[in-house]
Amino acid sequence: MAYHHYTLILLLAVQLENGHATGSRCKIRKFPHGFMFGTATSSYQIEGAWNVDGKTENIWDRLTHTRQYLVRDQSSGDTTDNSYYLYKRDVEMLRELGVDFYRFSISWTRILPTSFPDKINKAGVAYYNNLINELLKHNIKPVVTIFHWDLPQKLQDLGGWANPYIVDWYADYARTLFKLFGDRVKYWVTINEPHQVCYFAYGDKILAPALDIKGVAEYLCAKNVLLAHATAYHIYDKEFRPKQKGIVFISLSAQWYEPLYKNQSKAAFDANQFEWEQYSHPIFSKTGDFPPAMKKRIAERSAEQGFPRSRLPEFTPQEIQFIRGSSDFFGLNHYLTNYVSRNKSVYGYYESPSFNDDLGVFFHVLPEWTIGQSNFTKFVPWGFYKLLTYIRKEYGNPTVFITENGFSTYGGRIDNDRVLYYTEYLSAMLDAMEEGSDVQAYTAWSLMDNFEWTYGYTEKFGVYEVDFSTPERKRTPRKSAYVLREIFQTHLLNRCYIPDMKVPMAIT
Ligand SMILES: *[C@@H]1O[C@H](CO)[C@@H](O)[C@H](O)[C@H]1NC(C)=O
Ligand SMILES: *[C@@H]1O[C@H](CO)[C@@H](O)[C@H](O)[C@H]1NC(C)=O
Ligand SMILES: *[C@@H]1O[C@H](CO)[C@@H](O)[C@H](O)[C@H]1NC(C)=O
Repeated sequence: MAYHHYTLILLLAVQLENGHATGSRCKIRKFPHGFMFGTATSSYQIEGAWNVDGKTENIWDRLTHTRQYLVRDQSSGDTTDNSYYLYKRDVEMLRELGVDFYRFSISWTRILPTSFPDKINKAGVAYYNNLINELLKHNIKPVVTIFHWDLPQKLQDLGGWANPYIVDWYADYARTLFKLFGDRVKYWVTINEPHQVCYFAYGDKILAPALDIKGVAEYLCAKNVLLAHATAYHIYDKEFRPKQKGIVFISLSAQWYEPLYKNQSKAAFDANQFEWEQYSHPIFSKTGDFPPAMKKRIAERSAEQGFPRSRLPEFTPQEIQFIRGSSDFFGLNHYLTNYVSRNKSVYGYYESPSFNDDLGVFFHVLPEWTIGQSNFTKFVPWGFYKLLTYIRKEYGNPTVFITENGFSTYGGRIDNDRVLYYTEYLSAMLDAMEEGSDVQAYTAWSLMDNFEWTYGYTEKFGVYEVDFSTPERKRTPRKSAYVLREIFQTHLLNRCYIPDMKVPMAIT
């Protein structure tokens, strides 16, 4: 799940017009033939068994054990859903839902306890072999994320994503996975949400390792993340693709930024550039490299602040070519929309230097965007439509794989707010597809409640509820699980469908 700016949230009393006409709500809509549905999780959030069978410490183990105050409920992923032991139940749930694929991630230190490929941990390999084989036995395609935030602590001690050698370390790890699992895994996600990895963990303290070295560390990280991703892509392309014939892509978190007023289009443009096009422009644009507006702005601010060079490192022309085109699909994680604006009072509002100061905009959400209790996600389906439409027009209609979309609650099995979110976001996605957006897969985040990073267990994203108070970690379907099952199995969207929850979920 993507984190987001909560630096400034203004609740505006005005109603702003921005509806996207969807026609009659109960009309049944069709997904195209071959469209794929799935759900997602990530290793640290569900596996538990943090120090079992040879797995060594990663940055989330370290943060939750030594800086508990950074986690809202002081919890950890030490046991969480215990999927290391309960993966067969997870696959059973996937079968109940009728998914085409399951997106999960591999824990680096479970496979490579030294961080490097000098030693491969047999027990870790066996765990993922068991999971992959169980999925394939039931006709569920594994979509495997190579890196979903749980970096080995040892590599963090060496600087993590701020050290240029991480490009080699990550590439060695990726190659190891292609070798071990590539005979059966045909969809690889290299890195999950580089913006979250870099901004929230290096430029702030919202994700591990919580370095909070603003305006510098997140930009060093950005360059290395992109080079690491591209290196893994080219390794697959050269060494594995001819035989394994798989797909390799990156998952970018992209929220939508809309001008608060018509005269604020530059602020919205800049927000989109900084918040996600920092990563999409180098890979998917015709010219490659970081977005020009971003390079210019950070270079200017850096000069004003007395830095001898831009705080945003440069790519060489060779690196620009190397990164451009290095993703078979546009993997997209989407949750939120914000209005943005800018006026003189933004200058000096944020700490300087910082990413937020470089971007220099205010963020706004509307009270009517809140459905349910949680402040975490807001309900703005037209923002998803606008984002998909922008990606189609700006980046030459790449194939989009929605790798995450979802909604958090504070619990309860009758999750009408989540049902509304899923059905309306799917409808907005269909709106974009009908106008030509090439979306080929949709992933609901998440299969089940899990450790939601520094929000601990307070924010629940699962379509299955998990009882964390008992060792069995009992999983029970919510209303949203019933609704998604109907959509996944029929390939139809009926926004007025009411499931009968008295009928137990069963494998059909
Ligand atoms: C931008 O538009 C808003 C709303 O229409 C208006 O209040 C504001 O004065 C405008 N700002 C500028 C700089 O034109
Ligand atoms: C600038 O924008 C912010 C956020 O919308 C607002 O609170 C503030 O009053 C504005 N300042 C000026 C000088 O217009
Ligand atoms: C949600 O937002 C409201 C209004 O801003 C605030 O009072 C409340 O504390 C927030 N809840 C959480 C759990 O952050």
